[in-house]
Amino acid sequence: MDTNKMLDEKLSRRGILKGAAGAAGIAALAMGGLGLFSNAEAKGGSTEKWPWPYEKLDPEKTAELAYNEWYRVFCGAAVISSVFTQLRDKIGEPYKSFPIDAYVFLEGGMVGWGTVCGSNAGANIVANCIIGPRIAGPECENGAAIGADILEWYSETKLPSFTPREPRIKTKIIQTTSNSPLCHVSVGKWMKESGYALNSPERRDRCARVTASVAYTLVKDLNAWKDGTYKQRSAWKPASNMGITAQQNCNECHGSNIPTPPMAKK
Ligand code: HEC
Repeated sequence: MDTNKMLDEKLSRRGILKGAAGAAGIAALAMGGLGLFSNAEAKGGSTEKWPWPYEKLDPEKTAELAYNEWYRVFCGAAVISSVFTQLRDKIGEPYKSFPIDAYVFLEGGMVGWGTVCGSNAGANIVANCIIGPRIAGPECENGAAIGADILEWYSETKLPSFTPREPRIKTKIIQTTSNSPLCHVSVGKWMKESGYALNSPERRDRCARVTASVAYTLVKDLNAWKDGTYKQRSAWKPASNMGITAQQNCNECHGSNIPTPPMAKK
């Protein structure tokens, strides 16, 4: 029996499914439409399929979409939306079933906690959905590599690097280098140098433009991957072992006194 049928039966046994118009029925239909899982899924183990179909996108157009979407769903979901809404039109599934707006929680470095900048998280989600996760095999490693490149690029680049055709804020938006992929550090350094507060229109537009800058870079990398010309820029390796999870410029936080993590015993 296929997964959807099993799901339908389970739902109707519990008396939830009252015809196709019921909310549960719609959810079951939506899951069926996703088409990502085969029967084996019910037995456990992953049967997810990679890569997802991809057609090259215009980086400029994607960045404009991301800029405008920031004002609706903020950094992380805006990056995802800028790529996936175009692929919904060009390709359809699985992009049509992907819940873009669920990723609003990436805002402010994840629900305002200032951890990784949502645009970096969004870019990693997009790259790893399209290309696949590294555990799926060597042909999928570029998903993580593109994600790692974006984190490094974000940290080292004067941002925002993209200026929208019709900016909502006409005041000059200065560029700063964060030396970190963290929202807290990136926004903090920009606020310190510009003098604008967190809830100022300027800070908001700055983050919308940073989001657009990330979307632009992401699509350039995805297009190169599609053409077979993508070359990893960062030092990231799947087996890299610094002894601790960290952004790689340790001295940014530790100064010259970088603590040595205990290394695994051989
Ligand atoms: C974003 C800032 C930041 C970066 C970058 C960073 N660290 Fe840390 N690290 C911290 C903080 C904060 C602590 C907690 C320090 C404490 O408890 O006193 C910490 C703790 C540690 C600890 C364990 C606690 C200790 O003091 O021994 C080790 C080991 C460590 N870092 C190593 C590294 C290494 C190696 C790198 C680079 C690969 C790195 N860190 C990059 C902020 C950072």
